[in-house]
Amino acid sequence: PKITLIESDGTQHIVVGEVGQSIMQAAMNAMVPGIQGDCGGACSCATCHAFVDDAWAGVVPAAEDAELDMLEFANERQETSRLTCQLTMQENMDGMVLRLPESQY
Ligand code: FES
Repeated sequence: PKITLIESDGTQHIVVGEVGQSIMQAAMNAMVPGIQGDCGGACSCATCHAFVDDAWAGVVPAAEDAELDMLEFANERQETSRLTCQLTMQENMDGMVLRLPESQY
């Protein structure tokens, strides 16, 4: 699946990932600035934070408690905030759009 990550300044990055890979990992592989993933995907840093575009809200599975707890520490948290290390690429995410916060800290 191919997804689009948009930085806060509007710069778009097309990221191609594999089914089963986390969006954080796919974004790191593509060296997208703005996704940090300091903890390596262990749901304990909140530096892989992104906002899922409203049109795609129904496609991503609901966050589990560990992710919700960690999102408390996310910078610029919004309704649509997710930790991308906890989102696994699926075929139905092809074309999905996520926006990145201005900063992860
Ligand atoms: Fe640390 Fe996602 S990479 S919480």
